[in-house]
Amino acid sequence: MRCLVTGAAGFIGSHLCDSLLQAGHAVVGIDAFIPYYPRPVKEGNLLGLWAHHKFVFHELDLRTAPLEPLLDGIDVVFHLAAMPGLPRSWSDFDLYESCNVTATQRLVEAAVRQRQLHRFIYASTSSVYGRYASGDESLPTRPISPYGVTKLAAEHLCRAFCEEKGLPLVVLRYFSVYGPRQRPDMAYHRFIRALLAGAPIVVHGDGQQVRGNTYVGDCVAATMAAMQALPGEIYNVGGGEAVTIQEVLHKLQLLTGRRAAIRHEPARPGDQRATSADTSKLRRHLGWRPRVGLDEGLARQLSWQRGEEVRLAA
Ligand SMILES: NC(=O)c1ccc[n+]([C@@H]2O[C@H](COP(=O)([O-])OP(=O)(O)OC[C@H]3O[C@@H](n4cnc5c(N)ncnc54)[C@H](O)[C@@H]3O)[C@@H](O)[C@H]2O)c1
Repeated sequence: MRCLVTGAAGFIGSHLCDSLLQAGHAVVGIDAFIPYYPRPVKEGNLLGLWAHHKFVFHELDLRTAPLEPLLDGIDVVFHLAAMPGLPRSWSDFDLYESCNVTATQRLVEAAVRQRQLHRFIYASTSSVYGRYASGDESLPTRPISPYGVTKLAAEHLCRAFCEEKGLPLVVLRYFSVYGPRQRPDMAYHRFIRALLAGAPIVVHGDGQQVRGNTYVGDCVAATMAAMQALPGEIYNVGGGEAVTIQEVLHKLQLLTGRRAAIRHEPARPGDQRATSADTSKLRRHLGWRPRVGLDEGLARQLSWQRGEEVRLAA
């Protein structure tokens, strides 16, 4: 297949490009390097891809670039480009609206004109469910952050184009993805960075909030499996090991052999209390199973972050 991956320089998108190429697909990656976190980190994500003869990369912004030529000859679109992260979405709504909604609208407009498109896979989020995101895909969608609202708006846009214009859509709702290349603003990345630096760890809330963690390799496997899903389907993608933030901190202290000074700050508006995906539909329809447990996944992220500190300091 010839695949287009948006957000290819990001955390999950870069892993998806790696795996698609390994499976023999041709990949066109695009990214605008939105400076939400530093460009050199994203350039590092792409390092292993440049040399691959089936990989082409375009630096472009989905909000403004002509998109029809990009879709020419593409079989599958994986739309991962977005402004992620809850806290900033309260103060920079224009950026979230334009990157998550307008960019998606422009992409689906172009995609429905590409008549041979086999699938359009949209990376959504557990944030569309709201404060409590534990259950299957029939949970009500009541986002409690502007981020969640824009991701749900984009989901609805994709659905409208699916039902009325034939977009071969599959929606995936990812639950707390972690592992090597995790974004620097995400909690486990911040915790590991603080442990390695001997700095205090800031925990928002009481630490009893539950997260259904998904190892990035399992998330990518589900995303690739979605190429076989029927158009119109929605799937939760979650690793199945739900633990509290307190428990993750305990695991990370054991792994690093360091004790952290933990400073609690109030929970932030939009923070979810519990997320835990019921993935039975994904297992039943596509035979997907999570393969990497939390201890192993955290050890892999720690090892990557150690290497990354050396690379970025050089
Ligand atoms: N990481 C998670 O735990 C998680 C959980 C749920 C959903 N998601 C979704 O998965 C997707 C990938 O998330 P991630 O954690 O890899 O984020 P990321 O920020 O690492 O990657 C997203 C990439 O999209 C690019 N981008 C944003 N706007 C763009 C635009 N207008 N044009 C071109 N490129 C643009 C950014 O530069 C960035 O490199 C997002 O859609 C996010 O909402 C992630």
